[in-house]
Amino acid sequence: MSVPDFRFRRMRRTPVLRSLVRENHLRMEDFIFPVFVEEGIAEPVPVASMPGVVRHPESALPEVVRGAWEKGIKAIILFGVTANKDEEGSDTWADDGLMARMIRAAKQAAPQMLVISDNCFCEYTSHGHCGVVGDGDVDNDATLLNLQKQTLAAARAGVDMIAPSGMMDGMVAAIREALDEAGFTQVPVMSYSTKFASAFYGPFRDAVDSSFKGTRDTYQMDPANGREALAESLQDDVEGADILMVKPGLAYLDVIANIRQHSDRPLAVYHVSGEYAMVKAAAAAGVIDEKGVVLETMTAFKRAGATLIITYYAEALSGWLAE
Ligand code: PBG
Ligand code: ZN
Repeated sequence: MSVPDFRFRRMRRTPVLRSLVRENHLRMEDFIFPVFVEEGIAEPVPVASMPGVVRHPESALPEVVRGAWEKGIKAIILFGVTANKDEEGSDTWADDGLMARMIRAAKQAAPQMLVISDNCFCEYTSHGHCGVVGDGDVDNDATLLNLQKQTLAAARAGVDMIAPSGMMDGMVAAIREALDEAGFTQVPVMSYSTKFASAFYGPFRDAVDSSFKGTRDTYQMDPANGREALAESLQDDVEGADILMVKPGLAYLDVIANIRQHSDRPLAVYHVSGEYAMVKAAAAAGVIDEKGVVLETMTAFKRAGATLIITYYAEALSGWLAE
């Protein structure tokens, strides 16, 4: 009988041996928790497609942020659902607009919490697109000018990090320039650098109460393109992004691994609403072990090369990692 000349199972015999050779670990510092705030509601509104996720009333934000900090969450990303929509999303650059108010309230409630703003227009425009619409499409360069205004309002409100998610060309350079000229040289930019036009965002549109019916195919990326996915992130790296991002997550692990090999910037992955909803639905149907699937998914992100994970599971993970 021929015996194997190397036995992998030697290092799998006990929990201690396995932990000694484990290559990837999860820590609360890895996670960024998305928080939804809606103007003009008095009670939390559950997001039907995302069990456990709610849109919070503005008055509850301080408590939500403090609660997250107590659970070990170190960073949040804020999404606003405004009652003041217009063609351009001008509420986003008003110093008393929803975005600025959320940032101030969150920073005041828990000064140590890293507060990130999702910098886009889709939740603030009447048409639901991620910028100014002209000639039947989103006008890239007109949107950049508004994005600069929005960025400065967020910076004046005390935001810790700017996260542009609209996939406009030149958005990182435009934001960096605006920040630096206004003296906000220490405010970093986490770019949604490689963001695909994905069906996995469906429940998010529910979460932000979007009436949006079109597509974002002229600005978000084609899921078929891997080379372009790398180029998109490398472009944002060159423009000065402090953190790059791939979104969605599980269907794009190859893209994460590829960017990791070509850029030295920290790399985030967004575990998006549809990915969350699928796990929740399968767990509710009793066909998977929710905790096991989520821990394995998060570990896969790190193995692929992500250094940060944006996830609606951040609160649940704080409980599971403490067990
Ligand atoms: C909008 C935005 C989207 C998400 C974050 N910011 C959705 C979209 O592009 O329609 C997706 C988040 C998720 O699905 O969890 N710029
Ligand atoms: Zn958008």
